[in-house]
Amino acid sequence: MDKKILNILKKLEKYGYKAYIVGGFVRDYILGIESNDIDICTNALPKDVINILKLDKTTKDNYGSVNIRTKKYNIDITTFRKESEYINHRPKSISYIKDIKEDLKRRDFTINTLLMNSNEEILDYYNALEDINNKKIKCIINTHDKLSEDPLRILRALRLSIIYDFKIDDEILDFIKNNKSIIKEISYFRRKEELDKILISKNRIKGLNLLKKLNLLKVLEINFNNVKDTNDIIGIYSQINFCEKYPFTKNEQDLIKKIKEVIKQGSITIETLYKYGLYINLVAGNILDIDNITINKMYNALPIKSRKDIKINTQSIVKLNNNCYNNINEIYELIEDNILKGILNNKNKDIIKFLRK
Ligand code: CTP
Repeated sequence: MDKKILNILKKLEKYGYKAYIVGGFVRDYILGIESNDIDICTNALPKDVINILKLDKTTKDNYGSVNIRTKKYNIDITTFRKESEYINHRPKSISYIKDIKEDLKRRDFTINTLLMNSNEEILDYYNALEDINNKKIKCIINTHDKLSEDPLRILRALRLSIIYDFKIDDEILDFIKNNKSIIKEISYFRRKEELDKILISKNRIKGLNLLKKLNLLKVLEINFNNVKDTNDIIGIYSQINFCEKYPFTKNEQDLIKKIKEVIKQGSITIETLYKYGLYINLVAGNILDIDNITINKMYNALPIKSRKDIKINTQSIVKLNNNCYNNINEIYELIEDNILKGILNNKNKDIIKFLRK
């Protein structure tokens, strides 16, 4: 464990406070998975955390957490708290408390309740180690309340079970079966965040099948038939239809559209390679079962890879076109087509001769 993180705990302890690393980081530590997102919980108030660690006041967010970003870590330091009842899936209010066990109780699953102290010892108040050993995702208390309070926890349970190959507790599964529609209340941003974590994991295909088996595609507003496994997330996205409210970036949308076009065409050709470049064709080729070596060879053998490679400039084309700019794009397309088909040599004098004709 990084001494710099343990030193944060030690500094808070020096001033008489309790401080632990908690949640996903400790869970992943036990599972041998490295994580750079660190949650620390303490009974020190945010203002005391800021003073003791000599931080800027702006590190405190609106929810009373203090955030430190280093090159390697994103650290949140949160004061032990109790949450009031949830309204619109958020606690109406929070109050700071002294008891760590009470703080742990407000969280979702047992496996997220492990603590690590400044001596790197693991404290386990809710049998999290047993559930990790038994590979089980289980709510800490009252499954129905935990999942209705915050439906995002349904997707978190599914995501954790998929990426770690853990079993979901029957109570959670029953809740999902009987209350699917509350998934609609999860924002598209959060849905995508959880789906992304599933789709980058090695268990993604099993995960997608689980979502289908649990009849969640409709409420999630996604759809797919057979998804061919590829370790490129854009390749996976291209085989799933997402409702347009999912927040894909312009760049992602553009790549997905192009890959879908190549997949629809069903083959990699000189034209697709020239039009979309190597990356799109490699991803689409992967889905179409065409091997990378063949695609790379085809790409390297292209006589031109873009308009910049054509041995004539726009000015010369305009001149040959009676100083007219109107159909320059079509002329370029004609040149490209003929060069790619091997009918025309990519040499200036040959292109001029071709255009004069
Ligand atoms: N938590 C929760 N309900 C949520 C989100 C989070 O109860 N909807 C709790 C979980 O116990 C979690 C802790 O808050 O461990 C910290 O949340 P977060 O940092 O988002 O999750 P981690 O579990 O730390 O990490 P991961 O995203 O990998 O699960």
